[in-house]
Amino acid sequence: MSIIKKIIDYYKIDNSRLFTTPSHSLGSFIVPEAKEILGSKYFKADFSEIEGFDNLRDPKNTIKNLLGILAGIYDTKATFILTNGSTSGILAAMFSLLQDGDKVLIARNCHISVYNGLVLTGACPVWFTPKYDSQWGIYKGVETEDIEKYFLQNEDIKALVITSPTYEGLFSNIQDISKICSKYKVKLVVDEAHGALLNFGKFKYKPAIQLGADIAIQSLHKTAGAINPAALLHISKTSDISPECLQNALNLINTTSPSYPLIADVEATVKYLNSKNGKSHINGLLKEINDFTNSLPDSIRVYSGNNDPTKILLQFKERNAMEIAEILNTKYRIEEEYSTEKALLFITGIGTDKNKLNHLLTALKQILKTISNKKDSWLSACYLPKTLIETKYLPRNAYKMPKKTIKKSESEGKICGECIIKYPPGIPLLLPGEIIRKEHIQYIENDYIQII
Ligand SMILES: Cc1ncc(COP(=O)(O)O)c(C=O)c1O
Repeated sequence: MSIIKKIIDYYKIDNSRLFTTPSHSLGSFIVPEAKEILGSKYFKADFSEIEGFDNLRDPKNTIKNLLGILAGIYDTKATFILTNGSTSGILAAMFSLLQDGDKVLIARNCHISVYNGLVLTGACPVWFTPKYDSQWGIYKGVETEDIEKYFLQNEDIKALVITSPTYEGLFSNIQDISKICSKYKVKLVVDEAHGALLNFGKFKYKPAIQLGADIAIQSLHKTAGAINPAALLHISKTSDISPECLQNALNLINTTSPSYPLIADVEATVKYLNSKNGKSHINGLLKEINDFTNSLPDSIRVYSGNNDPTKILLQFKERNAMEIAEILNTKYRIEEEYSTEKALLFITGIGTDKNKLNHLLTALKQILKTISNKKDSWLSACYLPKTLIETKYLPRNAYKMPKKTIKKSESEGKICGECIIKYPPGIPLLLPGEIIRKEHIQYIENDYIQII
């Protein structure tokens, strides 16, 4: 029986018999403000692993059945529900593959959870930076030849972790990269947090799990309509990674009180995405985005290359994109995902419809009529230096070392003691254990910095 059906049946039971957690007892007591925003139904679906319901840590019936359905839909060896976001999937994947001191090749434009995985596992990162597109100020997909070079230089690399699509929507060629990984016996983990719609719509790129990745992790909450922080971890049918090993790793980091409303939402969301309506909804979204970009005036350029069209990256001829972002925010109350001098990123997803896109289109057209030209060419200022990565201490060691705070102006040559992440593009500029260079300092926003 489905989790949702079971929850609805459970609504009917007499809650006075429940002497279990959570103590709101199916909503017998709800703080009024919480009821105002969540409604009482949410509480009726929120319970612990009570009689008749399954256990996410060791699924045997209802959840096991749901996981089986998910594995069928995604065509995987195993699919896990993550009730703590892609973050928990990334940590679990790293835990299941890496031992203390193991080398792992990581594209530097990774999410902070990958760095946290290094601290927790004690693994040793071999960092590389994908090519940088200075015209757009974004990192490109990872190149297969670059990966092979690193494998040749470091024979003992155990795993490769890359983000595809990236925050800005750039894909790597997972099919080719996975072949190289197989050749060198390296496990491939793809952070596909931003790619949860790929399995269901007519995208140019297939999901990583169908292209040879051993593990792919997707946030259902980012683009696919589920609540925060619903996500999935997939193990590919062709991988020799054992689902038990992943389950153990997830049990190590996860709560013992997973959210049943979230599990139910995962069930409903994936069933919808996989339905005829869901698929046509996603294809409709792609069409609306295409119509939107085709309707933009000539003075607006849309990024198009190896990218996911649901991430709309725009550049404005002769205008500073940040100025446009400010007017969008203040006058039209439209919030972009990020803005730089060069580009604006708008993230769309299943909740983006024609009206919303038309609102943005109208606002952009009006703004362009009212603001004056800044320059007579495309703006091309660079907003991040070529990343300089000199590691003095491994992430786990650096994490545990005592820190002190000094003025950033005095930090050149010292060893960084904190994570400094530059948004956009969300790349770790400096991580604990790395040497601070003059080039980094200009990008550090705070006046003080922790050092080791
Ligand atoms: C590329 C990337 N990976 C992983 C994550 C973590 O995802 P979650 O919020 O589902 O834990 C994020 C979140 O912003 C992300 O941008």
